[in-house]
Amino acid sequence: MNNKLNKIAKDTNFFLKKFIKKQKKTNLIIPMQYGLFSGGKKIRSKILVDIGSLFDLDYHSLIIVGSAVECIHAYSLIHDDLPCMDNDTIRRGKPSTHIKFGESTAVLAGNSLLTMAFEILSYKGLNISEKIKIDLINKISESSGHLGVAGGQYLDLSYEHKKVSKKKIVEMEIKKTGKLFSFCCVAPLIMKKRSKKEMILFENIGANIGLLFQVADDLIDHKGSLLNAGKKTGKDKKKGKATLISLLGQENTIKYANKLISNINNNIKKYGKKSENLSKTLNYILNRNK
Ligand code: IPE
Ligand code: IPE
Ligand code: MG
Ligand code: MG
Ligand code: MG
Repeated sequence: MNNKLNKIAKDTNFFLKKFIKKQKKTNLIIPMQYGLFSGGKKIRSKILVDIGSLFDLDYHSLIIVGSAVECIHAYSLIHDDLPCMDNDTIRRGKPSTHIKFGESTAVLAGNSLLTMAFEILSYKGLNISEKIKIDLINKISESSGHLGVAGGQYLDLSYEHKKVSKKKIVEMEIKKTGKLFSFCCVAPLIMKKRSKKEMILFENIGANIGLLFQVADDLIDHKGSLLNAGKKTGKDKKKGKATLISLLGQENTIKYANKLISNINNNIKKYGKKSENLSKTLNYILNRNK
């Protein structure tokens, strides 16, 4: 699992470095690269490759689409760490982007990473039809804006120090984290022009994988350490974040996460042996320490 993840991270970084190198140099390039390359698991690209392999998609195209997703993810982390959001000074074992480069530069580098995702998906070197590119851009936009990452981040902040129901916490986590995973799970089906019904199924699978990922991240904050996680832990409780752990406790949250894994596995088992990679990724997601 780790070897495969490392290879995908390496290939994604290689593509992104090449893509950025072709552009004119600006002062924002360095902070953008810092957000993209200072570590980062590239797990979203791994999910994209796992789902893509169920449908026999070309690996290189998946890496390009995954690179666009990783730009949006990197932007969301830079903004998530800002003083007006989670106010975190350490990310991936290093100073957060705004600590290193200043707040206004961090905001602008984040914005530029967001728009770079659209540049990548519309780029000529991505060898798919223009219609499919538009469909991908349409879906990734929906996943990132008020119905997705940004909307979820809004809810996350507005729920601080409030008693929030399980349904609302799940909805918030699916928006802030799940929607980008939904995109990763449906993108291969968009590229293969599969049926609407199958696309909805995979969007749901993606939402559940993202929810699992966020629940595991919340568990890392609850019981992990700065040394492993590369970010300060124990902060969710201090900030009064509404998480499943705060509502149900650690043990029930782990049970909930295991139930999510079996639901997802049930949905993909009809793809037979090909689905094994994804199953392994799910176990990695829950058991990781960073
Ligand atoms: C952290 O994401 C933020 C969440 C959405 C939980 P990752 O754990 O994927 O961050 P990196 O890119 O690997 O550092
Ligand atoms: C971040 O969730 C989700 C995003 C969409 C960026 P967290 O706030 O829990 O992520 P960490 O723990 O800071 O990485
Ligand atoms: Mg946050
Ligand atoms: Mg945070
Ligand atoms: Mg967290």
